[in-house]
Amino acid sequence: MYVCLCNALTECQVRAAVEEGAGRPRDVYGACGCRAQCGGCTKAILCLIRETQALASGHRTAEA
Ligand code: FES
Repeated sequence: MYVCLCNALTECQVRAAVEEGAGRPRDVYGACGCRAQCGGCTKAILCLIRETQALASGHRTAEA
């Protein structure tokens, strides 16, 4: 599923970037070779960062 339409970033790409150390949306864009454009995806990317980090540390998220 696309998370960022401007850069055609998928949920998978965002999760992979977080697993490789991206901790902020800016880091995610950089890891994917792009940068924020409209900014409309920032909240969704932040949620994915938190969720991926929580899963990696073994914590459950509110949606899980
Ligand atoms: S949707 Fe991601 S920058 Fe526009």
